[in-house]
Amino acid sequence: MSNSEQKTTDFLPINGTDFIELWVGNAKQAAHYYKTAFGFQSLAYAGPETGVRDRASYVLVQDKIRLILTSPLNSNSPIAEHHRKHGDGVKYLALWVEDAFEAYEKTTGRGGIGTIKPTTLNDADGEVKMAGIKTYGEVEHLFIERKNYKGVFMPGYVKWESDYNPAPTGLLYVDHCVGNVGWNQMNPWVKFYEDVMGFKNILSFDDKDISTEYSALMSKVMSNGNGYIKFPINEPAEGKKKSQVEEYLDYYEGEGVQHIAVATKDIVKTVRELMARGVEFLKVPSTYYDDLLDRVGKIEEDIEPLRELGILVDRDDEGYLLQLFSKPVEDRPTMFFEIIQRKGAKSFGKGNFKALFEALELEQANRGNL
Ligand code: FE2
Repeated sequence: MSNSEQKTTDFLPINGTDFIELWVGNAKQAAHYYKTAFGFQSLAYAGPETGVRDRASYVLVQDKIRLILTSPLNSNSPIAEHHRKHGDGVKYLALWVEDAFEAYEKTTGRGGIGTIKPTTLNDADGEVKMAGIKTYGEVEHLFIERKNYKGVFMPGYVKWESDYNPAPTGLLYVDHCVGNVGWNQMNPWVKFYEDVMGFKNILSFDDKDISTEYSALMSKVMSNGNGYIKFPINEPAEGKKKSQVEEYLDYYEGEGVQHIAVATKDIVKTVRELMARGVEFLKVPSTYYDDLLDRVGKIEEDIEPLRELGILVDRDDEGYLLQLFSKPVEDRPTMFFEIIQRKGAKSFGKGNFKALFEALELEQANRGNL
């Protein structure tokens, strides 16, 4: 697509992911985990000390990734209600835009449901404009405009200085965020991203692509105009036993974000570091590596470290990718992380689905949910 063509069709230009906010039971402890285990750095804080009465929010950063962890300070808070129902999970997928008010007008004009009316936040460092619309489950997209802001994060937050600063692990940016939706809900949400957000469906997987002996799912990948934002949408499919997506829906008690994929440029180094810090990953059988090169062709990496760490490889027409999936990062079998290194490939590791889902089903069976 040429640039001029993109200008005419992309009514919602997005510069990237601004932040991802999780609503959790204990943000102070969660922040410690993301610093210690994943190597995030302390960036900003809001809470009673800054005049916020009902919540505490910790903003963490690693290269281009910003995570906010927020927990409620009283039982009447909607955050408490959200946590009671879902456990820890993603509330906001915030998008960095040039014009937040226009993004709100255009998306709500196309049928999007507004959740946060266009708002301007000010402090001595300038202004941030923001607005929000609903997506699947209780997840919302925020539009964040920060071109007139020079502060550390956003008005309302103060710089968070900490004496505890574990080193980063090489995580660079959010590659994609996957949503799990209910039975027969994938296509309506695909249509939402097409009609309301102007995204395109760039890849589809049916239940034959993504099934094992037992569990199955279907998935369609939605991407914005410049490809910086990719949202695969999964729904369960019928299999011999319960779909992994259904297990998520049961335990999250609704639709929500299934995984956040974060990119690294040295997956062996990053994963070795994450494992040393206690991040747990899914393990495929070591036989996966016996015929790996027959399946994916020549790769630059040595096979041995990949086998040792359980890193998966897949190839498409444009190159290859290396990826690995964490176990859920909370006690409910809900949200997890993917670590991904792209070497040309723009796809999502379809060739790994079978091996991966067999590993996942083993975990599911251990939980008594298969
Ligand atoms: Fe993924």
